[in-house]
Amino acid sequence: MSSLPPCARLDGDGLTMVLDLRAGAAEPVYFGPTLPMAEDLASLCDVLRRGRHASQPDRPAPRSLLPFAGEGHLCAPSIVIQQHGRPLTPRMPLVAITQRDAGLCLEHRDDALGLSVQIELSIVHGGLVEFGTQLRNQGTHPIGLISLASLTLPLPSWASHMVRYAGRWSGEMQQQRLALHQGAITSASYGGRPGFGGGNWVRIEGDNAGEVHGDALSAHLAWSGDHVLSVERNADGDATLTMAARLDASEIMLAPGDTFCAPRALVAVSAQGISSLRHAFHAHVLGAVVPGTAASTPRKVHLNSWEALAFDQSFEKLCALADRAAALGVERFVLDDGWFAGRRDDTTSLGDWVADPGIFPGGLDPLIDHVRGSGMDFGLWVEPEMVSPDSALYRAHPDWCLHLPDHPRLTQRNQLVLDLTRPEVSGHLFASLDRLLADHDIAYLKWDHNRDLFPLAGKGHAQVIALYALLDRLRTAHPQVEIETCASGGGRVDLEILERCSRFWASDNNDPIERLQVNAGWFDFLPMGIAGNHVGPSPNPITGRQVAMDFRAKVAMFGHMGVEADPGAMSTQDRQCLAAHIALYKQWRDVLHSGRLWRLTPAAAGVHALLAMHKGRGIALIAQTRQAATYDVPHIRFAGLDDEAHYRVALLPPYCEKARAQLSHARPYAEGVVLSGRALRLAGISLPLQYPETAWLVSVEIV
Ligand code: DGJ
Repeated sequence: MSSLPPCARLDGDGLTMVLDLRAGAAEPVYFGPTLPMAEDLASLCDVLRRGRHASQPDRPAPRSLLPFAGEGHLCAPSIVIQQHGRPLTPRMPLVAITQRDAGLCLEHRDDALGLSVQIELSIVHGGLVEFGTQLRNQGTHPIGLISLASLTLPLPSWASHMVRYAGRWSGEMQQQRLALHQGAITSASYGGRPGFGGGNWVRIEGDNAGEVHGDALSAHLAWSGDHVLSVERNADGDATLTMAARLDASEIMLAPGDTFCAPRALVAVSAQGISSLRHAFHAHVLGAVVPGTAASTPRKVHLNSWEALAFDQSFEKLCALADRAAALGVERFVLDDGWFAGRRDDTTSLGDWVADPGIFPGGLDPLIDHVRGSGMDFGLWVEPEMVSPDSALYRAHPDWCLHLPDHPRLTQRNQLVLDLTRPEVSGHLFASLDRLLADHDIAYLKWDHNRDLFPLAGKGHAQVIALYALLDRLRTAHPQVEIETCASGGGRVDLEILERCSRFWASDNNDPIERLQVNAGWFDFLPMGIAGNHVGPSPNPITGRQVAMDFRAKVAMFGHMGVEADPGAMSTQDRQCLAAHIALYKQWRDVLHSGRLWRLTPAAAGVHALLAMHKGRGIALIAQTRQAATYDVPHIRFAGLDDEAHYRVALLPPYCEKARAQLSHARPYAEGVVLSGRALRLAGISLPLQYPETAWLVSVEIV
């Protein structure tokens, strides 16, 4: 006789999950907005249960959070294991359920094999549900783990589409909206990191989903290594979302007594549309993930030396660049790749983390003093996980890289990967970085990672765990130093690395037209304040596009603003325009970074319209990337305002010169007009947006 209750519920800030437990498994029959506490759960479970159809097992397999092979499930099992090279078929019924402070703990056990799987569901900051899954081997034999899902979520019946993210270097997080027909849609990464395609993020939508209405849920796998994601609709019509770390065969062996903790998965659900999911994730990231500094202090304007100088560094050039940065209002100068022992291009020196004596005869301090003397912080680029074959480190320790005996050591960007799972390697990296940070006044590290990890040789999981340990150790020793995660742009962005990093480099692509699209994907989950977003050069080195400074600067304000270009190569007019936008960013960054982010309704193709709203103050970016099909584009209609309140709406200068003349009523727009939130939502405002690369900044302040 089971001692399980018939049903259970999990309640969070505005959400309820109801689990039907009567089949000896945890079946989520409802996941959505809060239900009354007095709701009769057993009756609800009854009316939600479908009748058995002709081609099902006589006892249909429960649609549970832990489907396992051998029960007749029409979906992938959550757990795949083997012993002595042969597949094992565990039987994992739910045996206990415990109410915890902010959640439920579900215990599944196979007594014959001595295995247990515990799934902890917790309500975490922002109102997300966190899934924590652990497999324990309490038996007497070792078990080989092939896969353990972090999340197996039978999707609500409204699920009709998924938005998945795909991409490549310099084109991260491109949204793809796909119908959930019968069959599986799967993505995975193989390069030892989540990759540019953002397959660790996903949104599921109902047919009715929009910005402020309709059913939707979004999910994330918090893991900096390889992953697998799949959404599969079976012949019964049931769709299931699965997310897991991708493991190689025999990578994880669980000895008797061992426990494997799958990476955490986080899920937000809403009946009020996509904006609620975005707000929940943003609140979670700022309140519970990124180190306090990122959430609480004004995000300093950066200038990064990469696009300005790349490897063409000299002490004089760097000082001059720093002076030009300070004159613009920049607050942090970041010395990118090229500063260390012999690094004149990307073929050498990774691993030798000492200042190049040719560039810095007196070491790094004279430059740091110069930067600090101009009132800026100093930041430094490193790529600690890598080694160049042409480096002192590699010559001293050729066996420290990931490699297989008798296999060629294949490079990518002329570099190899250090094996962090070896304690002497991690110890050496800690000592090198610790020395740099202890000896110099460094406020910030840009931690780069410019290649896929191969051959992983069954070490992918352990490499990621060792990276976390290295970062944790460094952060404990230097808690005041901010770290940015970068992997040739956004190749390694997830909530586990962001617990250790205050910022992510969203893309190497600073072309604002491309960046608007890339950022749109990131902002679905991550707040603007931690997304590095820089004004690049024109023409852009990646796309070759020439874009006016006004457009580049306005787009860069909507993120953690920086400059990745040489102000000395800009016209005086461009420098003035950039300085004006930097000043504006400083006035508005509290709103941009603490506010709620809304997407406004632009029915016109090519228009990106974002509003950050904080305590009755808001700033919107309305950006047209292409030539509009008609002269008069549809009105921009607002979201995120109080219908009953009144707002002063104004256009913030400087204006885009080519569009200024087409403003119908320039004077009231400059002085500000007062309109109700309701009028702004229903009628909106009209702006000249017919020409490509036209952007407006609109302030909205409650009166
Ligand atoms: C890739 C990064 O994304 C760039 O910003 C720059 O730091 C280069 N690496 C330097 O090698």
